[in-house]
Amino acid sequence: MRRRKVKGGFIKQSTSWIIAAFSATAIMTSAIYVVYFKEPPREEAKLSVGRAEGAIADLANKRRNEPIIPVAKPANLDAGKVALGRALFHDPRLSKGDAVSCAFCHDLVRGGVDGLPKSFGVEGRTGDINAPSVYNASLSFRQFWDGRARDLAEQVGGPITNPLEMATSWEEILPKLNADSETVEAFRAVYKSPPNEQNAIDAIVEFEKSLITPSRFDRWLFGDDTAMTESELRGYELFVQHGCATCHQGKGIGGNLFQRFGVAREYYDGSRRIDKADLGRYNFTKREEDRYVFKVPTLRNVALSAPYFHDASSETLYDAVSVMGSYQLGVSLPEDEVRDITLFLRALTGEELQ
Ligand code: HEC
Ligand code: HEC
Repeated sequence: MRRRKVKGGFIKQSTSWIIAAFSATAIMTSAIYVVYFKEPPREEAKLSVGRAEGAIADLANKRRNEPIIPVAKPANLDAGKVALGRALFHDPRLSKGDAVSCAFCHDLVRGGVDGLPKSFGVEGRTGDINAPSVYNASLSFRQFWDGRARDLAEQVGGPITNPLEMATSWEEILPKLNADSETVEAFRAVYKSPPNEQNAIDAIVEFEKSLITPSRFDRWLFGDDTAMTESELRGYELFVQHGCATCHQGKGIGGNLFQRFGVAREYYDGSRRIDKADLGRYNFTKREEDRYVFKVPTLRNVALSAPYFHDASSETLYDAVSVMGSYQLGVSLPEDEVRDITLFLRALTGEELQ
């Protein structure tokens, strides 16, 4: 990895050994998780950032050893399916009593979330976990906090049948869609058949794949030296040095590992109430070692998705960064470091979303 010198010499010699030892353990643990849970290879989305492909390859090569891989808008999607999927995503007929659409909880104007600690669905029923963003969800190796859905297609069924979310079923949805000649026409134009469960899911998934949000940091990774400020880059350097990137890495800057919430220090130390949702992946696998284990969330657009963590326990990004330092890495991050890491995380907001 290419190292810049971080100004100020803030990491004391004595603690750097501990950090190094811990980072090594974290990397090993991550490697085990990666090997263990690695997804079968799938076709990479073709990239286009509005420059000549050769030039991008050269630029990208400059920073190919960074733990974070840049993204660009996917160029190989079916525009008809994306448009139909976008309409379905905003269609309340996908819920009981036509009450809420996907966008109700995943507001695309607000970073793909609802901004609430816990979402509420039909009839105002409150959910049990904080809503993650739909932006860049297609980069994740599993869906949901506990990873119970293998992919986006499997995920769609979750909210539709969840009694606290849309509380309905395809048996109820399809007659509504098929009774509307405009909708039937739109489906016929794209799929040559009227709405059914399979093509409706396919359209929603194609739309979700379009929700990739290149940021200034991606531009920097692609080689644009002017894309990031000094403080943001210092924040990135700290993010890597402290070991945040052992968990939050790859294209999604997260989304490709399962990890315990509370690695270096116990998060559920008796001072907090433990609800079912806090058991994480254990709810799905029933394996003791999966207790409090969650999918490492993507940090793309994280500045837009307060409050933080599955239980919405941190109200600000600043606080979330310091919680991560203590519980995942066992370091009490000084204020200036938390600030710069936060500035780095803000630079991960999609440029088109700003
Ligand atoms: C009532 C609010 C609500 C509605 C409506 C809703 N969602 Fe969600 N969504 C959530 C919550 C809460 C989660 C997290 C649930 C969990 O992890 O157990 C979630 C998770 C997701 C995820 C997984 C993201 C990740 O990083 O794991 C995707 C993708 C998603 N929803 C897409 C959709 C789609 C598509 C629809 C419409 C068919 C929809 N949602 C409707 C609240 C909602
Ligand atoms: C050992 C793995 C690991 C390390 C190291 C780690 N994280 Fe995390 N991070 C996680 C997991 C797991 C979660 C989800 C926890 C939860 O909500 O239950 C998370 C959540 C977050 C969130 C909240 C995201 C959201 O959408 O709610 C932020 C912000 C974050 N991490 C930043 C950092 C920073 C900054 C560092 C370094 C100081 C760091 N993380 C180090 C695993 C890790």
